[in-house]
Amino acid sequence: MKVAIIGTGYVGLTTCLAMAYLNHEVIGVDKDSDKLSLLRQGISPIHETGVQALLHQITENVCFTGDLKSAVADSEIIMIAVGTPPKQDGEADIRYVEEAAKEVACGLEPNREYVIVIKSTVPIGTNRRIAHLVHSVLQARGVRTDVCFASNPEFLQEGLALRGTFYPDRVVVGTDRPEAVDAMRQLHKPILERSFDPPSFLAAPDDENLPSLIATDATNAEMIKYAANTFLALKISFINEIAGLCERVEADVTEVARGVGLDSRISHRFLQAGVGWGGSCFPKDTAALLRVASEYGYSMPIIEAARVVNQRQRTLIVEKLQHALKILRGRTIGILGLAFKPNTDDVRGAPALEIIRLLNEQGAYVRAHDPVAIPHAREDLENIEIEFVEDAYAVSNAADAIVIITDWNEYRSLNLHTLAKPMSTPILIDGRNIYSPDEARDAGFQYMGIGRG
Ligand SMILES: NC(=O)c1ccc[n+]([C@@H]2O[C@H](COP(=O)([O-])OP(=O)(O)OC[C@H]3O[C@@H](n4cnc5c(N)ncnc54)[C@H](O)[C@@H]3O)[C@@H](O)[C@H]2O)c1
Repeated sequence: MKVAIIGTGYVGLTTCLAMAYLNHEVIGVDKDSDKLSLLRQGISPIHETGVQALLHQITENVCFTGDLKSAVADSEIIMIAVGTPPKQDGEADIRYVEEAAKEVACGLEPNREYVIVIKSTVPIGTNRRIAHLVHSVLQARGVRTDVCFASNPEFLQEGLALRGTFYPDRVVVGTDRPEAVDAMRQLHKPILERSFDPPSFLAAPDDENLPSLIATDATNAEMIKYAANTFLALKISFINEIAGLCERVEADVTEVARGVGLDSRISHRFLQAGVGWGGSCFPKDTAALLRVASEYGYSMPIIEAARVVNQRQRTLIVEKLQHALKILRGRTIGILGLAFKPNTDDVRGAPALEIIRLLNEQGAYVRAHDPVAIPHAREDLENIEIEFVEDAYAVSNAADAIVIITDWNEYRSLNLHTLAKPMSTPILIDGRNIYSPDEARDAGFQYMGIGRG
């Protein structure tokens, strides 16, 4: 099928490459000329597992352009995957989706059949609003053409984005037009049937469960996305709340989570205690859902509590450092991990940046490492006094404490003796519980995990 994808960020680019790999004819559209220039040279603007490899591999049926109107004119399916950042009051800002939709409407040709798909995470009612907007532009242009609308929320996880796109648990299509469901079913056919040869870097999952296509209406689809993300955020906050009590009663939350997660009704996924959730989705989606609820005078105390618990996890790190060092002013704190999760360079909503700001306010001096996210963190922290180092071990030079914030694989196999040796005081705050307390203590560390009494 001929597909135009508006926005080539984490979601858009991954979708472009996956659809092109499945032999669709794809045009990726972006208004960021730097991004386009990199993409045209075959360089990925984001760090995401397999994306660079696919960009090299697929050269024939994908191209990238800034010319939105021409890109959509000849497409059957037009997917909008632009950002929906949070406003000050938590409401999702749908300005970019609206702008993109208007531009799309300006490019549609008469007497054709199009399906416009909203992939961006948008508040309830946005799909209806976009349909109205597109029809108004078409009417003003005097163009008669058949346009169906579908909400197709994206559930991928950064760091595992291609896995999530090729092997989703479900594909949600929210529309009132059966033709749109048919078109989306055809687009996703190889994914729904798992009938494609997996890319070399992405083995098929062991399970035989094929993904379902859920055909529903747009409001349900919009709600499914928010409810899914909110539930995941809630699950993490739940185990973090349990972790706090574990510390007080001298239990170990990693053992508790193992025992709880083996219950198949619960599962171990998203049940790891730590510095709390971040990223560009959970914080903004929980805030946006609360904002929608407030428009109806409806309270959502569980979701509010999940956000409060999450915030507490950030200050917990500073409290642990205060407990161990007493005075933070003038101390050197080594930070391992800046990205909001491993295998991505994304620092939007990253716990590390918030913790670094808190430490900076306390007068501590921060030295930080991340395998790929330093350039983005540098931009974000431009007003903060901080030293970035290219080697993980360099954070420990004369440091008073080290905090592990992102569970990158390379941090799981550090030589703890080498790490501890050059420190002024060998204190390790393991914000992701990736080391065993005994192992860290054997290396000479005073060790504090999260929820490990
Ligand atoms: N990142 C994730 O893990 C994830 C997962 C699921 C859903 N989502 C949702 O998907 C949407 C996109 O997220 P993202 O992380 O990919 O965003 P992003 O910021 O990485 O990318 C958005 C891209 O859209 C481009 N853009 C904006 N307006 C445009 C226009 N009018 N024409 C052409 N290009 C335009 C921007 O230049 C940018 O490259 C958001 O609504 C987000 O909530 C994200």
